[in-house]
Amino acid sequence: MSREPSDELNCDDIPFTSVARVGDIPSGEGRTFSVSDRLVAVFFDGTSYSAIDDLCPHMGASLGSGPLVDGTVTCPWHAWRFRLCDGAWCDNTKLKVDIFEVRVVADAITVRVPPVQPIELPGPS
Ligand code: FES
Repeated sequence: MSREPSDELNCDDIPFTSVARVGDIPSGEGRTFSVSDRLVAVFFDGTSYSAIDDLCPHMGASLGSGPLVDGTVTCPWHAWRFRLCDGAWCDNTKLKVDIFEVRVVADAITVRVPPVQPIELPGPS
């Protein structure tokens, strides 16, 4: 379910996409943006920005609307908590949501979002 940005093939070929301006995301909150056919939650902790997959793996709530406290976002539906540093679910760190690189260029908040990789299913035996 989760991949680190460095795990992506040819990640350097994926451009950064501008999603918002500095000041658009209040401290302690997130906002959700559509990038490369994915929903991405971008958070501001008062100092820096972080981006994760917006889709909660439990039942699909938008993580971008959850509160951010001490580097952890809480899902607004059933309170699962995810670390922004690595996307890990706090109750079982083996489960992770994708994280994405964020850069601020001038006053633009930009994210690098690889396209969703197709899942390969085993063929019939
Ligand atoms: S949908 Fe996120 S915890 Fe249930």
